[in-house]
Amino acid sequence: MTTKIYIPRDAAALALGADKVAKAMEDAIALRGLDVTIVRNGSRGLHWLEPMVEVETSEGRIAYGPVKARDVVSLLDAGLVSGGDHALCLGKTEDIPFLKQQTRLTFARCGVIDPLSLDDYRSHGGLRGLENAIALDSAAIVAQVTESGLRGRGGAGFPTGIKWKTVLEAAGARKYIVCNADEGDSGTFADRMIMEGDPFVLIEGMAISGIATGATKGFIYTRSEYPHAIATMAKAIEIARAAGVLGQSVLGSGRAFDMEVRTGAGAYVCGEETALLNSLEGKRGIVRAKPPLPAHKGLFDCPTVINNVISLASVPIIMDKGAAFYRDFGMGRSRGTIPIQIAGNVKHAGLFETAFGLALGEIIDHIGGGTASGRPVKAVQVGGPLGAYFPRALFDTPFDYEAFAAKDGLIGHAGIVVFDDTADMLKQARFAMEFCAIESCGKCTPCRIGSTRGVEVADKIAAGIEPEKNRELLADLCNTMKFGSLCALGGFTPYPVVSAMTHFPDDFKPAPLVEAAE
Ligand SMILES: Cc1cc2nc3c(=O)[nH]c(=O)nc-3n(C[C@H](O)[C@H](O)[C@H](O)COP(=O)(O)O)c2cc1C
Ligand code: SF4
Repeated sequence: MTTKIYIPRDAAALALGADKVAKAMEDAIALRGLDVTIVRNGSRGLHWLEPMVEVETSEGRIAYGPVKARDVVSLLDAGLVSGGDHALCLGKTEDIPFLKQQTRLTFARCGVIDPLSLDDYRSHGGLRGLENAIALDSAAIVAQVTESGLRGRGGAGFPTGIKWKTVLEAAGARKYIVCNADEGDSGTFADRMIMEGDPFVLIEGMAISGIATGATKGFIYTRSEYPHAIATMAKAIEIARAAGVLGQSVLGSGRAFDMEVRTGAGAYVCGEETALLNSLEGKRGIVRAKPPLPAHKGLFDCPTVINNVISLASVPIIMDKGAAFYRDFGMGRSRGTIPIQIAGNVKHAGLFETAFGLALGEIIDHIGGGTASGRPVKAVQVGGPLGAYFPRALFDTPFDYEAFAAKDGLIGHAGIVVFDDTADMLKQARFAMEFCAIESCGKCTPCRIGSTRGVEVADKIAAGIEPEKNRELLADLCNTMKFGSLCALGGFTPYPVVSAMTHFPDDFKPAPLVEAAE
């Protein structure tokens, strides 16, 4: 029987040499005349083990990693094809603690299947959600999504079902589904991993969304920095169309839905939904004032659902297993699972999907294994560049929208960036202001001017110029930006700044003169 060897084609694995490993494996297999097929899968999300090679055996899949091209010969000598022992052997993939502790609903197939095999997708539960959806009327689909408790994974945590209901009830000759795949937050990669590792789940989620709201056309908006995701998604759409999953009659239902990928140049603000719509329409990526909401007047002034990749990719499992199944995971008003992305100075970086409610400290210390540098963790920034810095004292905070908000933080797209005790939080606060100044769309004054003034004030504090007065000025400026900005870019930049000032006040004091003189 032909043995399957899996070598990821995910961008993270490619960056670490997966193509070279695949080529070396191909050559060595041919030389030895082995009956082996190489499958280029997505990533399992254990970044420190990439490229992680797996072999299918009668016992299940056995993993090896991180594998370099030069390891291939010794791996084959050690009996890789039958799961033989080797210094790089990690045992059964499913038993690796980082994976074993996860609850993979949205990412159930990611890294498991061949991303571009619709048969593989189907045989792992794919399309069951869409099949169930086409048997229902639109309102019933929307009701299921609402009951599941799914909230937008792009940042704001808005209930997905309510958004869909608004679009369903809005009048419009045409309606659109726009998938926000801009993924601009620091330390995030979940959207990319889905697009590269399980593209059909996003297609299925968008098709369900279309049928639920009466939209017949969908766009995935992503950035040019994601060439592998773009290529995989475009190919998957072609395959889905040829198989009748997309087109005039989705799975023979008589209901139409088709979609395409559109690429932006990569500006942080183009992830904001109204700037994204402008960019998609070929205009400059500038934020639109709301109202009107995109659900009423969105793309080309038509009612539009805008959802993040993970929100849409979580819908098929809800429609497959039911709202109650999904809602049973999580805590409080944060239902289901969340793919946490652990990055920065951390030993075990990667994607960890789990039910809401895990304590932040558990994620950093136990799952992430502490810092890569081996030094103490000083701070973590949760929720991208607009997220607050949390000190160890807040590590008991459960991963939950409301719990984070209660501590002046946010979950955002669930990216966590870890910093050790060498981090200078004044520099991080300055960086937040600088980032805002560079990425500001320029439409409103608090953000456009305030961020530049913020950089100047931070520089004065660092230089020891009237530190007390300038700290007050920085806090005042943050207040103006928070309450006076048109969108969350200017409105949330104060979160990293104020949290850094609140939790790390020593970093905002000029060094004592004796030390400066030394
Ligand atoms: C400056 C800025 C950048 C954003 N970037 C993204 C992004 O990259 N991806 C995303 O899904 N949402 C992003 N958002 C949030 C979107 O505006 C919007 O809330 C989201 O796409 C809605 O989808 P959801 O309900 O599924 O989360 C951003 C918001 C702001 C203010
Ligand atoms: S807050 Fe900044 S990015 Fe948002 S509309 Fe105002 S200037 Fe543009």
